[in-house]
Amino acid sequence: MKFFIDTANLDQIREAQSLGVLDGVTTNPSLMAKEGITGTNNILKHYVAICNLVDGDVSAEVISTDYEGMVREGESLAELHHQIVVKLPMIKDGIRAAKYFSDKGIRTNVTLVFSAGQALLAAKAGATYVSPFIGRLDDISTDGLNLIEEIKTIYENYGYETQILAASIRHTMHIIDCAKIGADVMTGPLSVIEGLLKHPLTDIGLAKFLADYEKGNK
Ligand code: G3P
Repeated sequence: MKFFIDTANLDQIREAQSLGVLDGVTTNPSLMAKEGITGTNNILKHYVAICNLVDGDVSAEVISTDYEGMVREGESLAELHHQIVVKLPMIKDGIRAAKYFSDKGIRTNVTLVFSAGQALLAAKAGATYVSPFIGRLDDISTDGLNLIEEIKTIYENYGYETQILAASIRHTMHIIDCAKIGADVMTGPLSVIEGLLKHPLTDIGLAKFLADYEKGNK
């Protein structure tokens, strides 16, 4: 399972990269705004800064909602750096743009996916990644993990190569459950990734090992 960090915060990206288990980064306009990154030039520079911090794929989202605009924007984003993956919204023109980029060999991430039908369309358009938002489904009393299972079944039935990128991850059990189902990638905040480290028995066990070492080496 690939681990992406879902942030535009450079310190957090650096921290996750230093753990040695990071495979990429996802961003979106909300995450950029949260870091105070505004204006096209600053946003583009920030994408390059992120690419220079990590080895893997970096999703950069278009703002346009029409086909021509998405193509224009996506081509500029893809030219920025070889690690950039063009992130497109799951709307009609987004699917058309995903097909355009797929035919040109430019990698895409179709985002804001909330149903199996949307994921099927993204795969047929040749998207590299599909991003189902599981936390936001859970927020409205709908089982987000069930969507991951449905997409997994459909993609396996037909051998689609589109990778399932579980997004809107809110806690460690989302990661574990997505891994059990077989999602290719999860993207989540640093706090959730680091949450996987935690177990009280590890802390208790380590404290005892160190105390015993001290006793034996007095
Ligand atoms: O990439 C964005 C996606 O992960 C959304 O997360 O927590 O805003 O629903 P959240």
